[in-house]
Amino acid sequence: MAKKTENFERPDGRKLNELRPIKARVGVIPNADGSAIYQSGDTIAIAAVYGPKKMHPQHQQDPAKGVLRCSYNMMTFSVSDRIKPGTSRRSTEISKITEWALEPVLMLDKFPGQVIDIFIHIIQADAGTRCAGINAASMALAHAGVPMKNLVCSVSVGKLDKTLVVDLTKEEEDFEEGEGPTDIPVSMTPDGKITHLQLDGKIGPEQLKEVLDIGKKAIEEIYEIQKKALKEAFN
Ligand code: CDP
Repeated sequence: MAKKTENFERPDGRKLNELRPIKARVGVIPNADGSAIYQSGDTIAIAAVYGPKKMHPQHQQDPAKGVLRCSYNMMTFSVSDRIKPGTSRRSTEISKITEWALEPVLMLDKFPGQVIDIFIHIIQADAGTRCAGINAASMALAHAGVPMKNLVCSVSVGKLDKTLVVDLTKEEEDFEEGEGPTDIPVSMTPDGKITHLQLDGKIGPEQLKEVLDIGKKAIEEIYEIQKKALKEAFN
């Protein structure tokens, strides 16, 4: 368990505003229209994009615009306690928030009656899987050549007792001392437009502003890594 001290020390020795080591690559699934892998520390997400293509089932077609359909799934072996396969309340929620995080940058009005499918698989999990999935999906959409206004970058900011830290591990998410943990996953475009924010815990308005500043700086770093991976694939 993370220790509570006046000068808070992170269990893995990172600075408060330091991200875990990141690896990112696109084109990892040849049969997909676009694909990417995004790793933050021990959390690894793979995303595959198929489409835009005709929407099936047909009754779900929107004649005015395309539909983004995300499916988030944690592999049974992604954590030490085996996860029951199949859809859960949690996976349904994360699939939905991933759609909401990505939709604002997509030009779905160009694809009436069509669907863009994104499949996100978490092959290893140490917290922050929704953020890693959104980062991978955003890169996979760009890799597929889907028209986008920008990339979306995602990171979780946490309040452990009173201390704000970025990119929580599972050990940090389980912090139980003082005021306990507050987990705030946030997704933004690199120019700072928020496309998704969740809040699990309690935080005051002043500290929430700080959270957004910390998140924005982390997102600038993530964006550079996503951009580099995309450039490498197209060079
Ligand atoms: O992964 P994320 O932080 O976006 O979502 P969460 O629901 O807060 O889950 C935090 C972490 O708990 C996951 O990343 C996994 O490491 C772990 N977890 C687990 O061990 N078993 C589950 N059924 C769900 C999550």
